[in-house]
Amino acid sequence: MITTKELKRSLKEKGFIPHFECESWGSSILIMRKDGKAFCRMYRYTDDPKTVYFSSLSVDESVRRRALGTKILKAAEEIAASSGAKALCLSADRTQWMHAWYQRSGFVDFADNRDAENSVWMQKAL
Ligand SMILES: CC(C)(COP(=O)(O)OP(=O)(O)OC[C@H]1O[C@@H](n2cnc3c(N)ncnc32)[C@H](O)[C@@H]1OP(=O)(O)O)[C@@H](O)C(=O)NCCC(=O)NCCS
Repeated sequence: MITTKELKRSLKEKGFIPHFECESWGSSILIMRKDGKAFCRMYRYTDDPKTVYFSSLSVDESVRRRALGTKILKAAEEIAASSGAKALCLSADRTQWMHAWYQRSGFVDFADNRDAENSVWMQKAL
């Protein structure tokens, strides 16, 4: 399994700056591109260590449709897999185009997200 030091080095080589936080419930990583134009967050809970949750994906409007979102999602998948997780999960609005994009990236619906209207939990096996 990859160490935090190795993970930081690998993300820096890919042009990302990681910010790690450890809390009583688990840990999170904010991954930001060096130029600040794209970021996402990943969460891992101590009571469910085999699953990593992906959220807050955002690409600056000025640089959308240049595959930055795809690259950061791919980086998140690699981080989750190298940390020993078996699945990457996220919540998506099934009425928005992102739902189909996540499906094309290999995510499948597995439960309604009752906390957010029209939203569904999706997961990808790693
Ligand atoms: C979602 C988001 C991160 C995508 O980032 P991006 O860098 O523009 O995405 P990519 O360039 O990697 O696009 C990947 C594919 O997604 C689809 N896509 C991207 N933008 C789209 C749009 N506006 N409408 C329809 N499909 C779109 C396309 O299939 C695209 O591939 P293509 O350009 O080869 O056709 C960006 O639109 C964003 O920040 N949106 C606001 C925040 C948000 O909604 N986050 C997602 C929460 S689930």
